[in-house]
Amino acid sequence: MRPILIDCDPGHDDALAILTAYAHKEELKILGVTTIGGNQTLEKVTENAKRILHFLDADIPLASGQAGPLVKSLHTAADAHGESGMDGPVFEEADYPLASDNAVVFLKEQIMACPGKVTIVAIGPLTNIALLLKVYPETKKKIDCISIMGGGISHGNSTELAEFNIYVDPEAAHIVFNAGIPIVMAGLDVTEKALITVQEIEALKKKGRVSRMAGELLSFYNESGRQYGFIDSPIHDLCAIAYLLEPDLFQGEYQAVDVITEEGRARGLTFADKRLMCDKIKNVFVLEQVERDRFAAMLIEALEKLDGRE
Ligand code: RIB
Ligand code: CA
Repeated sequence: MRPILIDCDPGHDDALAILTAYAHKEELKILGVTTIGGNQTLEKVTENAKRILHFLDADIPLASGQAGPLVKSLHTAADAHGESGMDGPVFEEADYPLASDNAVVFLKEQIMACPGKVTIVAIGPLTNIALLLKVYPETKKKIDCISIMGGGISHGNSTELAEFNIYVDPEAAHIVFNAGIPIVMAGLDVTEKALITVQEIEALKKKGRVSRMAGELLSFYNESGRQYGFIDSPIHDLCAIAYLLEPDLFQGEYQAVDVITEEGRARGLTFADKRLMCDKIKNVFVLEQVERDRFAAMLIEALEKLDGRE
């Protein structure tokens, strides 16, 4: 049983990552969910996290975090995720309690209270995690790894070079990538291969309550993905959970990864120093390939499991 903390900005793919983690109660113990401004404003992504946890009738502590990045102002991804940040399904009023409005303190408390080490799953901008590591460095020794959806070695999506989660807060990403904690990086190189097909989405809509809700999420997300050239849907954030459940779904390589923070065309770019003379610690396991069919099956089976718990 692996204790995890999920820092997220729901977000359609964030929601599917949470659902899949929640379906795997035997392998993953979700100590808490924290929110960060990203896909939408902090208020909206926190409301979406409440909606998901309420929909599951889950008993998982939820804390809201930073509204925006360390230095610049927040820009959201309404084009991809809609005005609510999780357009598609109609959710009932989510009367779900907020354990704290200070995610950084909440994360510290959860990590220090856990008997063993904790895995952080970071699937939004890294502001909360950077502050945690800066303000409470004593937590570092209790974090076994940070599983990140973010970045990309070959390309970006917010700009041609920078992926959204990193681009929103490059300074935070730089702190996290240089903290000396083992990182699993699910960047666009792999997440854009982690696709759910239109046929698989349609099939979900004919199944149980949870599968149907996920199908409605994915129908909106699939439609919005067309503007970026996608036919099938990349479930970016799910990769950060899927790796923890079945690492052999993926192939990757340890790299020394850093983040460009300087103003200019490359701001938010994550790069791997592959020079033979590079003496930096290769603490980032960069995922590069995924077995798509097995990845899709993991999501579909997780949803079926949650349907069965109804
Ligand atoms: O670039 C993809 C990432 O940006 C995902 O985490 C998605 O939820 C958005 O936050
Ligand atoms: Ca996200």
